[in-house]
Amino acid sequence: MRTQVAIIGAGPAGLLLGRLLERHGIEAVILERRSGDYVLSRIRAGVLEHGTRELLNACGVGERMEAEGLPHEGTEICFDGVSHRIDFRALLGREVMVYGQTEVTRDLMAARAASGAVTIYGAEDVALHDLDGSAPRVTYRKGGASHELTCDVIAGCDGFHGVSRRSIPADKLRIFERIYPFGWLGVLVDEPPAAPELIYAHHQRGFALCSMRSATRSRYYIQCPEDTDLDAWTDDLFWDELRRRLPQAVAEALRTGPAIEKSIAPLRSFVAEPMRYGRLFLAGDAAHIVPPTGAKGLNLAVSDVQYLAMALAEHYRDQSNAALDAYSARALSRVWKAERFSWWMTTMLHRFPAFSSFERRMQVAEFDYLRGSVAASTALAENYTGLPT
Ligand code: APR
Ligand code: PHB
Repeated sequence: MRTQVAIIGAGPAGLLLGRLLERHGIEAVILERRSGDYVLSRIRAGVLEHGTRELLNACGVGERMEAEGLPHEGTEICFDGVSHRIDFRALLGREVMVYGQTEVTRDLMAARAASGAVTIYGAEDVALHDLDGSAPRVTYRKGGASHELTCDVIAGCDGFHGVSRRSIPADKLRIFERIYPFGWLGVLVDEPPAAPELIYAHHQRGFALCSMRSATRSRYYIQCPEDTDLDAWTDDLFWDELRRRLPQAVAEALRTGPAIEKSIAPLRSFVAEPMRYGRLFLAGDAAHIVPPTGAKGLNLAVSDVQYLAMALAEHYRDQSNAALDAYSARALSRVWKAERFSWWMTTMLHRFPAFSSFERRMQVAEFDYLRGSVAASTALAENYTGLPT
């Protein structure tokens, strides 16, 4: 089989790239290791930046998001019981859209199925070849048979554990990484949210987050030690611990029920540079990871593929490689700012077991400054609602 762009991975990065390329008349085949149902069973983040929302609308996949998503004009930051609201609308005239990544993926999958573009689910042993030449290839197995896909360019959109980044010679990549000594224990529940907006809470016992997926479905997280045993956390233990970490009024308003999903996510900052090797271009989690505190993961995947689609469009339209050559530097400039923001929010809001009394005072001062400064609050709002692409 032959195509113009071989896309590895049918997560939000791969599917959105496919959609954007289709709009430019560029053909792509997506190879995904899992089944479509499996991809849709993963529960991930749920806050879309202003620009992500605009892009989804511009490429014709925003209809359900606009109908069912929840526009939020602000968020609450709470520190040792003191609350400070960041008013995106008043500070910047902007909002974010609360709409689950699973739903974004579902909408992109439906649009791709309707367009007739090819997605191969259940592609095993995907391997990339001849990346440094002019005729790259992808091989894979499906249904016991071996297949080969030849193409002009490969887009590695296969997430942190994918094969694409690992196909680049180690001496051609520089890795930057920070692993945080804790994780987030998350619970999804079919009950209305405890508060109308998201609440990020710092507490002596650890961080907590109140989020939501809809008016009737809520998502809550608590910071937990890295070696936490998921099975030891019964629903009741989770709700008790969450209540302890929330402002009293929110704790009292909290509506609990049986968890419909419960999982632990590690916290990590990670960047691989450059986001390109020969004819392979990395996008999304394949190239970088942020801790979830700033809700940047999905949004960064979206800005990466936006840059990559524009560069590929220029390549095919003008027979020029200029934008493709600039892709990595352009994407990384935005990636590092999101890395900075996620690291900053994570550092201010979590309990770090190894922090000295000085570092602890720094956290207090960060919050105190945020609360007393319109400039600091605006900076948070600007990063949270999304820096320009
Ligand atoms: N071959 C084919 N497909 C693969 C392979 C492989 N070897 N390895 C992984 N994949 C697939 C995964 O099954 C997954 O469906 O690639 C897809 C990658 O999707 P995501 O992990 O969702 O990554 P991305 O599309 O970059 O989206 C970024 O996802 O992890 C969150 O926080 C992150 O919200 C952000 C978003
Ligand atoms: C979520 O709803 O899952 C969520 C929201 C905001 C975050 C992280 C996760 O910062």
